[in-house]
Amino acid sequence: MKESEKMPPLRLRPPSRRPLWIIILVCLVCLSLIGAYVYPPQRFSTCYFLSSNVCSPLRDWLPPEPERPYTDNEVAARVVARDIISMPPVHLKTSKIAFMFLTPGSLPFEKLWEKFFLGHDERFSIYIHASREKPTHVSPLFNGRDIRSDKVSWGKISMVDAERRLLGNALQDRNNQHFVLLSDSCVPLYNFDYVYSYLMETNISFVDCFEDPGPHGTGRYSEHMLPEIDKKDWRKGAQWFSVKRQHALLILADSLYYTKFKYYCKPGMEGRRNCYADEHYLPTLFNMVDPGGIANWSVTHVDWSEGKWHPKSYKAEDVTFELLKNITSIDETTHVTSELKRKVMKKPCLWNGMKRPCYLFARKFYPGALDNMMRLFSNFTAV
Ligand SMILES: *[C@@H]1O[C@H](CO)[C@@H](O)[C@H](O)[C@H]1NC(C)=O
Ligand SMILES: *[C@@H]1O[C@H](CO)[C@@H](O)[C@H](O)[C@H]1NC(C)=O
Ligand SMILES: *[C@@H]1O[C@H](CO)[C@@H](O)[C@H](O)[C@H]1NC(C)=O
Ligand SMILES: *[C@@H]1O[C@H](CO)[C@@H](O)[C@H](O)[C@H]1NC(C)=O
Repeated sequence: MKESEKMPPLRLRPPSRRPLWIIILVCLVCLSLIGAYVYPPQRFSTCYFLSSNVCSPLRDWLPPEPERPYTDNEVAARVVARDIISMPPVHLKTSKIAFMFLTPGSLPFEKLWEKFFLGHDERFSIYIHASREKPTHVSPLFNGRDIRSDKVSWGKISMVDAERRLLGNALQDRNNQHFVLLSDSCVPLYNFDYVYSYLMETNISFVDCFEDPGPHGTGRYSEHMLPEIDKKDWRKGAQWFSVKRQHALLILADSLYYTKFKYYCKPGMEGRRNCYADEHYLPTLFNMVDPGGIANWSVTHVDWSEGKWHPKSYKAEDVTFELLKNITSIDETTHVTSELKRKVMKKPCLWNGMKRPCYLFARKFYPGALDNMMRLFSNFTAV
């Protein structure tokens, strides 16, 4: 964008020379059109001259009736995204899941995660981004797994930066084929084998995404994001994603949409509008570039049903067999809009077309819940 903005405007020639200049220009345009028609430089070149209907490879990607010409950066971003997304999925014997922990400091549930991971050595890898203080690890599985980190401010782009930093580190291991983002208050709900096959045996990523026309949804959109991001493209969703390798690459490859969010989606925008990049960037990005590639729900459960500013947090005494059974039996997602008349949208959780439990992990659990979780975990996940 910078480049084209800085280009000096075309200077006009003195009037006496203008006709000649125009004739030369018209001739050049004609010549290049004829040239392109007679010697198409590459496979899709005719698409620029004919209606998009005859160009199915492009038509699948670009909207059927473009309302506006794409900017140079948009053409580039979309072609890169298209090729990354169409990379065939890899199924190696050595495929691993990267578990990426985004935490301020030490992880209170390390012992529980250790129980979850033990015996599955070659099928997972752990990455920890501790944004406030260096964690102390109680499990050898977590030793030496801290990555270089930076400060994270709630709702700001630094949150997205930390997610990208985790992905950048985890992508370095070619065996990592799926990438799960977790917080310090997250716990697993199933044993490792169940989680592994749930995530690996499908071709979609679990990114939460829905349309909220209310003040906490589209109300946070800024017209500064035009022309690339239209109001109708704007989506919302919880930040706790779980993505395929292609989608992880796509997130790192994007700078166009990322930059828009960096500058125009932050708390206190224009003095009144609060926008939180971690709730809107990835849902909006995927909605624009690969809507069919995401499930539209997150595999991490959280309970917003109390309707407060923060979700329900579970204390030690809340953690019972019944609670875990309740959470793991949920097989539809619920999204609630923020309009005055709140609209509740429910959808079945379809995994490869089958209705299945939606959640593999859950938050938010207080550190004091560890003992109860440890006690229940083996009993519960043996089912
Ligand atoms: C995933 O994609 C591959 C290749 O595109 C395909 O062969 C496979 O059947 C797909 N798997 C599922 C579960 O959809
Ligand atoms: C997610 O939502 C988008 C747009 O609403 C839709 O096109 C896509 O099919 C949905 N994904 C799945 C897996 O159903
Ligand atoms: C579990 O679900 C049932 C039925 O929805 C509800 O009555 C009960 O209070 C729930 N229990 C816990 C511990 O969440
Ligand atoms: C273990 O699971 C069974 C059901 O499978 C349940 O009846 C029992 O109460 C559980 N034990 C504990 C300690 O929670």
